[in-house]
Amino acid sequence: MAAGRGFLRAPSSLAAGARRFAFACPTALPLAGAAAAAPHRRGHGRCYCSGSVPDSPASAATPYVLTTPLYYVNAPPHMGSAYTTIAADAIARFQASLRRGIRGRLLDKRVVFITGTDEHGEKIATSAEACGRNPKDHCDTISNSYKMLWADLDIAYDKFIRTTDPKHEAVVNEFYSRVLDSGDIYRADYEGLYCVSCEEYKVQGWVKSGLRDFSISRASVEWGIPVPNDTKQTIYVWFDALLGYISALLDDGEKASLQQAVERGWPAYLHLIGKDILRFHAVYWPAMLMSAGISVPDAVFGHGFLTKDGMKMGKSLGNTLEPKDLVNRFGADAVRYFFLREVEFGNDGDYSEERFINIVNAHLANTIGNLLNRTLGLLKKNCKSTLAYDSIAAADGISLKDNVENLVGKAKDQFENLLLSSACETLMEIGNLGNLYIDEQAPWSCFKQGGESAEKAAKDLVIILETMRIIAIAISPITPSLSLRIYTQLGFTEDQFRALRWEDAKWGGLKAGQVMMEPKPIFARIETETEEKDQSSSKATKGGKKKAKSQGLVEA
Ligand code: MSP
Repeated sequence: MAAGRGFLRAPSSLAAGARRFAFACPTALPLAGAAAAAPHRRGHGRCYCSGSVPDSPASAATPYVLTTPLYYVNAPPHMGSAYTTIAADAIARFQASLRRGIRGRLLDKRVVFITGTDEHGEKIATSAEACGRNPKDHCDTISNSYKMLWADLDIAYDKFIRTTDPKHEAVVNEFYSRVLDSGDIYRADYEGLYCVSCEEYKVQGWVKSGLRDFSISRASVEWGIPVPNDTKQTIYVWFDALLGYISALLDDGEKASLQQAVERGWPAYLHLIGKDILRFHAVYWPAMLMSAGISVPDAVFGHGFLTKDGMKMGKSLGNTLEPKDLVNRFGADAVRYFFLREVEFGNDGDYSEERFINIVNAHLANTIGNLLNRTLGLLKKNCKSTLAYDSIAAADGISLKDNVENLVGKAKDQFENLLLSSACETLMEIGNLGNLYIDEQAPWSCFKQGGESAEKAAKDLVIILETMRIIAIAISPITPSLSLRIYTQLGFTEDQFRALRWEDAKWGGLKAGQVMMEPKPIFARIETETEEKDQSSSKATKGGKKKAKSQGLVEA
């Protein structure tokens, strides 16, 4: 049982009657595909479970603010929590590549990618106690484990907000006072069954029975921000945590003021969340913001769940997958690619190690890695690793160039509409075209023939390497390290890679005279070995199981 006293009601201009929320998340909540139908207007929140998202912020001065949920620190991250962050990182990298100016300088339309940890509430206090730690130490430890995992997964966030950060607490207090001043908070007693693990009151038929005012304080939870006008109570953890999206915008060391934070780029353009927390983002959050007179976010996208054997992967069920383990065994690129390619963004998706290995080997090791390696091997053997032609001249009259350019345009649309799996598929189609081209043209035998055939073969190598260069740029939001390795093998520097813009994926980047690096496998194929099953653990079954290691190298 838990009791609460402070309640928030919807601003009266929006309420259908006193004590009723009437936030206009325009249609029923899990809304598939309807987003594209209605014209987008900034300042009117929309929510999507799948489908397209509105155009990016129109004004050049408006940053593209993108958020992940702030993760609970009751336990270290699992693959389910990593999933949202990987997707957000890919979207942030793609958006940054659209906004980057000359020599990598970001234009005013910069991207602000926010993530962080949600550290107050009973759930956290209980888990700290179970570990024999005080809540603050516990939060420090777990929050840090998120940061370490994000580093391992190549997550390049701009802001990491912790809800125990004093600047956040100051923003929450100021926000609370604004809502209080607006007359939307009133005192009432509430008692009800409380679900600690989901931090929400279980209210049957919540949606059906109409939207209601909600309790924003707790009398029985000590680990939280005290309510400014009633220090016996703490602020409800969701009311507190959602404001992290705004307090995160403050720069380090800057005065902790709500207005200042808002001026740093609010409203957010996109909240990426799992579908289970859509209600908080699409109803409570806009209601809070409206009451405080602050703009609502442009879009909320609720993605599906990673499942294991059909069940939602989660800490409560204990059926989680260790992302750190996956990264240690297979590397960040493989993990990022697999989940973004395999799970259609918006739908649930099941993990299987066999599928993981098959996909990653087929796409990253073979389609991309092997093609680059073979081509660079031929270039080394026949052209002293130097390009004899400009890529534009080499591709004159060749349909592959147009096909690649069309597919890059398609991938751009898909990234813009958060169709991440389709974007991966499109980029792999480019790789398949490259493989088809080299197999059909067989430059290795043309070199042997000499004369015009050898000249044609030298052009073909340029064509394939230009195709690889384009893939490297376009897939870099998904596999940033792999893309860097491709780019440096093509003879560019890391600085040149970091300065790339999406429009550099246009045909024509490779010029005559460019010297390529020694061909070196860019992606280690994951080898599986058959391991005899321990007879004592299973007498009934004979045979073996596959054990994976990513030591093998791609054959040239
Ligand atoms: N602390 C709140 C969010 C506050 S945002 C102001 C919270 N935290 S959480 O750690 O429980 O969950 C964070 C996100 O991870 C949610 O979006 C949730 O949907 C997502 N996932 C947790 N398990 C998941 C899977 N098995 N699969 C995909 N995402 C899942 O909720």
